[in-house]
Amino acid sequence: MKKLVPDYIQNAKLYPPGTPLEEVKRKLGIDDIVKLNSNENSLGPSPEAVNAIREAANQVNLYPDNSAFYLKQKLAQKYDVLPEQIILGNGSNELVQFIIMTFLLPGEEVITCSPTFLLYGIMGRVMGGNVKEADLKDFCFDLEAVLSEVTENTKLIFISNPNNPTGTIISADNFKNFIAKVPDDVIVVMDEAYYEYVTDKDCPDSIEYVRGNKNVIVMRTFSKAYGLAGLRIGYAFAPERLVNQMEKVREPFNANSLAQKAALAALDDVEHIRKTTENNRLGLLYVYEQLKNLGIDFIPTQANFVAVKLGAGAGKICDRLMKEGVLVRNMESFNMPEYIRVSIGLSKENERFIKTLEKIVAT
Ligand SMILES: Cc1ncc(COP(=O)(O)O)c(C=O)c1O
Repeated sequence: MKKLVPDYIQNAKLYPPGTPLEEVKRKLGIDDIVKLNSNENSLGPSPEAVNAIREAANQVNLYPDNSAFYLKQKLAQKYDVLPEQIILGNGSNELVQFIIMTFLLPGEEVITCSPTFLLYGIMGRVMGGNVKEADLKDFCFDLEAVLSEVTENTKLIFISNPNNPTGTIISADNFKNFIAKVPDDVIVVMDEAYYEYVTDKDCPDSIEYVRGNKNVIVMRTFSKAYGLAGLRIGYAFAPERLVNQMEKVREPFNANSLAQKAALAALDDVEHIRKTTENNRLGLLYVYEQLKNLGIDFIPTQANFVAVKLGAGAGKICDRLMKEGVLVRNMESFNMPEYIRVSIGLSKENERFIKTLEKIVAT
């Protein structure tokens, strides 16, 4: 009898999302919760985006614009690319799926580093790929190590920049040298979900490689700094010849009408992004200082989260924080069991995290 489920699906793992707010309320019976486990924007969505959603709500009887004309126009203008060099996803997660579905043949290699965002490996395996993971070096993507994994079977390289969960970035020079050495039949995917938070000027301008028609795809999202995670909308820049192929695997109407309208309004709300990044800057200063005072090690970050080293008991501390209403991310599934990952929230949320952590580590 033939197998109902292919081995590569049978052996694949489920993506472990951060525990949702409702689940903690339901299971622990607590209401007063700070959610710092999924790198969301604690300031909320842009008020302009919320207004746009309200206005658009009366028209959800109509299908969305499948071509997302206005959103692509605005993104194209903002990032100096052509609308034809943009593809939208139901979150950038869906773009990972499109990329793998479009370009990867079963058995071909996907290379990334570990620890990184888990979806590249999960999706690579689910689509029958051979996923290879180089080690991070000093918590950073090690592009030399990635290159040494490349063979004639390699098709895709995924780089999380900044890297989730370590918050580190690769330098512009490193990226330039790397791209020069990547074979022409390999596609490099830069996942820049946390791009808006980056303050280091040495971050690569990866879109420049798209403009230069290299095999580079740059993924961005409205889920993080733009505060629209619940709407599921992400976008990617890629040379038109790659977008044209990815468009064939995209399900029609994948970017819903409320998401398109909200994203348009959010792009215009520059003030909300300014407040968001400023809140992050101040929150990071506070969390760094407090962790130093407590003698707790952490990895300096370019994103809106910090990996905090708590040693062998990190998982248990995570559970205890949850019981006290402070949700942070357990790093066991990321293969960093001595760490937790905490998002930067509002100042009162950051304070609650620090005070609760202080109490737990003192007992
Ligand atoms: C590196 C990275 N890429 C992509 C995503 C997913 O983003 P989206 O909500 O756009 O699917 C996340 C979310 O945590 C992430 O950390």
